[in-house]
Formats: sequence, C-alpha cells, structure tokens
Amino acid sequence: MDEFPDGDHETTTEGSGGREISRKTALKAALAAGVTVPLAMIAVPALARTNVTTGAAPELTPPCDDGDDPTPPQMEGPYFKPSSPERTNLVTPGTPGTRLTVTGYVFGRACLPVSRALLDFWQADNNGAYDMAGYTFRGHQYTNAQGAFTLTTIVPGLYPGRTRHIHVKVQAPGRPILTTQLYFPGEPRNNTDSLFDPRLLMTVRDGQGGKEAAFDFVLNVPQTGTPTTSPTTPPTTPPGSDSWVAGTSYAAGTRVTYGGRAFVCLQGHLAQSGWEPPSAPALWRAE
Ligand SMILES: [Fe+2]
Repeated sequence: MDEFPDGDHETTTEGSGGREISRKTALKAALAAGVTVPLAMIAVPALARTNVTTGAAPELTPPCDDGDDPTPPQMEGPYFKPSSPERTNLVTPGTPGTRLTVTGYVFGRACLPVSRALLDFWQADNNGAYDMAGYTFRGHQYTNAQGAFTLTTIVPGLYPGRTRHIHVKVQAPGRPILTTQLYFPGEPRNNTDSLFDPRLLMTVRDGQGGKEAAFDFVLNVPQTGTPTTSPTTPPTTPPGSDSWVAGTSYAAGTRVTYGGRAFVCLQGHLAQSGWEPPSAPALWRAE
C-alpha cells in the first residue's frame, strides 16, 4: 500500500528542557498526577473540540494551539508493521481486555481540523504482546470531514520496560508522518518510563462497558484559516460595478461609479490611490 512513504518521517528533536510550560501541557501534567485542575484550564482546551462538534469552523487562533508545539513525535519502536487493515475497531468477539474507545481530532497549526488525515494505530494485547505474525490490534483509518476519529480497542497490556501506551502514526494528506505514542494518566510506570511525555497523555474516564479516552493531535501543517485569493490575479471589477476600489485591475470598458458619478475605463490598469477616476482623465472618462 502507498501509505507512509519511506524517508519522510518527522525528526525527533524534542526535549522538554527549557520549554515554557504551556497551559495545555500543565493541564495534562496535572491530570497525570491526579491533581485537581482549575475549571478555567479545562474549559479552554475544550473550546476547539466544542467548535468542531457543532459543525462550526474553529476560530482562527483557537485554544488548541495555545503556544504548544505540535504533538511531539516519539520513537516508532520495534513492533510497527506496514499495511495494516483499514478499520476503526480492533476488537473481535471474545477478545480479552478492558474495552477502550479513543476519540479525538486532528488539527493543523491554526487549529483547523484536518480531514482525511491517516491514523495508523498499533498496540500490545491484553498480555502485553504485539502480534508480529498478523494484524491483531493494528489498523489504520482516516479522519472524517470534521477531522475526527474514533478507535475501538482494549486497554493495552503492560510489557517489561515500558509504561502503558498506544503507538500511532498520523499523516495529513501529502504531509510528513508524525510517529508518536499515547499514554494513560495515573499509571505507576509513567514516572519511570524515560519515553513518557505528559504532552501525550490522553484524558481517560470510565464509560459504559469500559474506558473512554480522548486525545487531539496538532500536526505541523500550515493553515491560513482564511479564503485565499491569488496576489497575482487581483479581482477585476465587472461591468456595472458601482464603486471604484484601489488595488483593482480594471479592463478597458469597465464602468464604475465614484463620488456618485459614473465613469468608463479607457485603458486597462491596476487602480491605485491618486488615480481616482475624476483625477485620471487618461484612464477614466466621465459618462
Ligand atoms: Fe510499544
């Protein structure tokens, strides 16, 4: 399959030393430590999600990027396998383990949702083992039009040397791959696993029949958040336009009004301040 082309991985240059702790990082660290979090901290990161669930476009600088870097990368580890099946449910009937649903969104740097982003999850089974012969607990999926994803799985088992985690690769269309891992709050081994990063903590709560986790990815994808117009093709005022505007490219024959008077363009030009129709008889003729 053509997902995740070789040689295009984001580099792992993360280090927390010296980084100013942002609101989101502090929030997640507090959640991990079981500290009571002020409501104001919880409310802010929730806004971006709220905007998406209502179908409205997030604000141009919504709180999902409150000074944080994009979601930090982590090592792939030895157990990734390409060509996982496309599926959102990794659980089969009878699969042992605590049921877990992970939901979230994929955002770009302007906190606008990224649709059709590829997410490839892989994790250990209930006993802490990876399936290297087949594709148990492996699957890829794409975010929907709102940038949302849902993974149905189990809480991964522990294995020696690591805290509890889920591996994932995330890729916006045509962009580099983010390889990282997601962590669970309240895990004793979070304090001793050198790879553990509180910025990658999911929020986890008890739900119906299992655990419900949430995590939003922020990819290093530039987004303007505004409709773009080509700077090389300024809009041409159509005939019948009722106003002259500096910066507009006018074609000969175009009719405009200025100061309540009608003018016709005598030769094509890019209008600029000082060339108003009444003061540019070479360009405009009053009608
Ligand atoms: Fe692992």
